[in-house]
Amino acid sequence: MDERIITKEQLEEDANLETGIRPGSLEEYIGQTEVKDNLDIFMKAAKMRDESLDHVLLYGPPGLGKTTLAYIIAHEMEGNIKTASGPSIEKSGDLAALLSSLEPGDILFIDEIHRIPRFIEEILYPAMEDYVLDIMVGNDASTRNIRIDLPPFTLVGATTRAGDLTSPLRDRFGIVSKLNYYTVEDLTKIAKRTATVLECEIDAEAAKELATRSRGTPRIVNRLLKRVRDFALVLGSGKIDLEITRIALNKLKVDRLGLDNTDYNLLKSIIDRFGGGPVGIEAIASSIGEEQTTIEDVYEPYLLQTGLLKRTSRGRMVTRKAYAHLGIPCPDKID
Ligand SMILES: Nc1ncnc2c1ncn2[C@@H]1O[C@H](COP(=O)(O)OP(=O)(O)OP(=O)(O)O)[C@@H](O)[C@H]1O
Ligand SMILES: [Mg+2]
Repeated sequence: MDERIITKEQLEEDANLETGIRPGSLEEYIGQTEVKDNLDIFMKAAKMRDESLDHVLLYGPPGLGKTTLAYIIAHEMEGNIKTASGPSIEKSGDLAALLSSLEPGDILFIDEIHRIPRFIEEILYPAMEDYVLDIMVGNDASTRNIRIDLPPFTLVGATTRAGDLTSPLRDRFGIVSKLNYYTVEDLTKIAKRTATVLECEIDAEAAKELATRSRGTPRIVNRLLKRVRDFALVLGSGKIDLEITRIALNKLKVDRLGLDNTDYNLLKSIIDRFGGGPVGIEAIASSIGEEQTTIEDVYEPYLLQTGLLKRTSRGRMVTRKAYAHLGIPCPDKID
């Protein structure tokens, strides 16, 4: 069975080793300089004014460090963090309970915030703007609106799909930060840092190779590092060098651009079945048996970023670069 390197959800193994690997302070957080520098200023200013930090929206592809940043914000602001996720908030009562449990200076982290149902989301508006909670009590005959004051708190929302957020919600975040794919240099640093935490030895070339093949994503570089470490232990001396890294990554079917089987299937199916496109996302999804949202959130952003795929008004198209990468002769109509 193929091991999936790219997954939307965190695997259990991530959680196991999470504590040491996940950076705990802004200083340890590698890359994303712009986001980091701005946040640093906003947090310092809030502390100087003795206020809670304005609400923060973090968005970007999976595995780039949104959850990590939310915890770092709590750490830096010296507040407690309470966490929830959009899909777990099913009734207005769920959100009301969360909000009314907040203490002054708390960070409320809501992951996948775009998945909160609209009628519940409206409860957030006055909570974010005026720190009040409006709730309806009583039954049909005698409903009353009551208003509860909330302590100052910071909502940190994370989403892979900022476009799915309603504008009233988006507008209530004072700080909106987009996380981008990491550079090879930053991922190399992350690989080295993680290797140190895991107490394994890795040389510079190997760290760079891992970084190059991790599709710009810290979660993937960490996951690949753990697998390469296994190969190094069983087949080599335990030390991770370039040769064992290449062997391991080839066995794991991670190619030199970091593409895995699903990326291949996706590109190949557009080529084989749809003449290279343009083709709609629904047709691609059913042709390779993946969920449309998984393609949109996980696979497509990286394929777009590397220039293997293009989005046009008529649908997705593979590019000349994709044909070349797959070693398939490219028809003239493709550019
Ligand atoms: N800037 C960074 N420096 C070092 N390691 C990082 C950084 N960002 C993320 N990581 C590592 O990558 C892993 C994934 O990050 P995180 O869980 O924060 O991603 P996410 O954006 O919340 O993903 P998702 O959208 O799937 O929830 C973390 O466990 C952490 O170890
Ligand atoms: Mg997360």
